[in-house]
Amino acid sequence: MKYFLDSAKLDEIKIAYEQYGFDGVTTNPKHIMNSGKSFKQAITDIANYVVDKPDFPVSVEINPHLETAPEMVAMAKEISALSPNFVIKVPTNQQGIIAARQLEQQGVRTNMTLVFSPAQSIMPGKIHAKYVSPFVGWKEDYGDDGLAYVKDIVDLYHRYDFDTEIIVAAIRTAKQLQQAAIYGADIVTCALSVYEASFSNPYTDLGLKTFQDAWDHTKGAQ
Ligand code: E4P
Repeated sequence: MKYFLDSAKLDEIKIAYEQYGFDGVTTNPKHIMNSGKSFKQAITDIANYVVDKPDFPVSVEINPHLETAPEMVAMAKEISALSPNFVIKVPTNQQGIIAARQLEQQGVRTNMTLVFSPAQSIMPGKIHAKYVSPFVGWKEDYGDDGLAYVKDIVDLYHRYDFDTEIIVAAIRTAKQLQQAAIYGADIVTCALSVYEASFSNPYTDLGLKTFQDAWDHTKGAQ
């Protein structure tokens, strides 16, 4: 089970890698905007940081305005030339699938993003995309069960032996994270705050307090 950080902020990426030993990063145009940098600057800074970290993939999304496969392929190649760590996020739609297939055939790894149904997840598996990203939080924001379809995708990928790794994305709570893990997701990606919430539990704090009291009342305690 791999943990990816969903952010384009370098200070957070450093914490994820250096402090927690996370396995990779996913970015998107919103994260780049929130980094306060230009697209070029943000991804160049990340490329420089990961230069000596070969096993730390970073997903970078192409311009979401692009509508045709040739345009997508051209931009994906440009971005991918900046770092061997970069995996290119391509939208899961007709042109995106055509583009991702060509990119994979040419050795550019892809993350097929914005997946909202098991049906939509099949082509990314068939074309051997490196990753497929179902978005849990966006579905749940609108009242859908965002995790049931993740389980279906995991089952389907096992049944057909697809080698594409499933990144469960847009995770907003520790409960969603744990459910994605229970269902067998290869990877989860979320904000640092979500991971950090999952590290703790009020019972742990309560237990610690109980043991502190016992420690303090033990004969000979300092
Ligand atoms: C995944 O790759 C996406 O960057 C992401 O999870 C989107 O989620 P958000 O809406 O929480 O930013």
